[in-house]
Amino acid sequence: SARVCTTTRAYPCPVIFLGSGIVAKIEGGCAVEIVSKLLGQWGGVVPKLASEEHRKFIDKVVADALQNAGVQESDLSAVAVTIGPGLSLCLHVGVKKARNIAKAHRLPMVGVHHMEAHALVVRLIEKHVEFPFIVLLVSGGHNLLLLAQNVGQYVQLGTTVDDAIGEAYDKTARLLGLDMKKGGGPALEELAREGDPKAIKFSVPMRGPRYLNCNFSYAGLKNQVRMAIEARNIDGDEVPLSVATAEDRQIRADIAASFQRVAVQHLEDKCRRAVEWARRLAPSVTSLVVSGGVASNHTVRSRLGALASELDLQLVCPPPRLCTDNGVMVAWAGVEHLRLGMFEEPPDQDEPDDVR
Ligand code: KG4
Ligand code: ZN
Repeated sequence: SARVCTTTRAYPCPVIFLGSGIVAKIEGGCAVEIVSKLLGQWGGVVPKLASEEHRKFIDKVVADALQNAGVQESDLSAVAVTIGPGLSLCLHVGVKKARNIAKAHRLPMVGVHHMEAHALVVRLIEKHVEFPFIVLLVSGGHNLLLLAQNVGQYVQLGTTVDDAIGEAYDKTARLLGLDMKKGGGPALEELAREGDPKAIKFSVPMRGPRYLNCNFSYAGLKNQVRMAIEARNIDGDEVPLSVATAEDRQIRADIAASFQRVAVQHLEDKCRRAVEWARRLAPSVTSLVVSGGVASNHTVRSRLGALASELDLQLVCPPPRLCTDNGVMVAWAGVEHLRLGMFEEPPDQDEPDDVR
């Protein structure tokens, strides 16, 4: 069984995402996390600043991760690095570093798609999850329903036509004046526990006979929530939750709970249809895997768990720390590709500085 050493470092700078995995001693099964996920104090990411920060910290992040894991660069068996999607200037910093390590130690390299890493990491922990399986990926930028047939082979059953669910959680949390340092999703989940999920009747997106697909849409729900908040004269910027009156807090909790109920209902609706489709394509599927940041949400887990058991499937979610962005998932995706021979030989040349 694999030993996973995790070290998530938070540096006080406006960088949002750096994901690279260094795969160490694969036979011994040690993966090193070198991800830093840093939220900007400006509520967004400035690409140029973010890439400068990546450049500034990459050597230290890698050195710290190796040290914490008790391995040296020369112990590594391969290097896995995120190649997208994301800000190309930032991704390039990771790729360049990975290439340099690979070149120095003559190591194979694996370029990893961020969402594939979210989809595969469950197999690091739950060895019984075999292909084919159905996977729902729910994060800040993506809402995907896939039939995973093998490493590198995915049938897309559905995606979002506008926003992802995590984006809707974050936007709602901001409008409600929640503490964004906790992360919008976790803060909203916490407040929703105090609320009545039936207090406000938001409509469930893309229901009815017109929508014969497994796609998602969260822009309309986001808008409904914004209007409900404005109609109740709540201004989260002016009055953060921490200073709201008890009555105001209750209204916000009701909005949070009502939003969450409908947001998760939408996942449930589309998963139900996706399971029907997937079973026609691959009758042997037995698992519904749910991953990505939003998969750490308890309501998501329990509602989809109930759906899975109704449909005679097992719901499998990575532990929360592996649902949200992390470097272990990238390293593990590297292992999965490496085993099948899907890797690059070590490069002969340094990465030129000006390549994007
Ligand atoms: O996968 P992830 O860490 O990063 C992306 O690839 O986007 O997902 C981040 C998203 C954010 O929108 C965050 O608010 C959401 O996942 N999230 C949650 C929870 N934890 C993280 N949403 C709802 N409930 C949570 N407990
Ligand atoms: Zn992610």
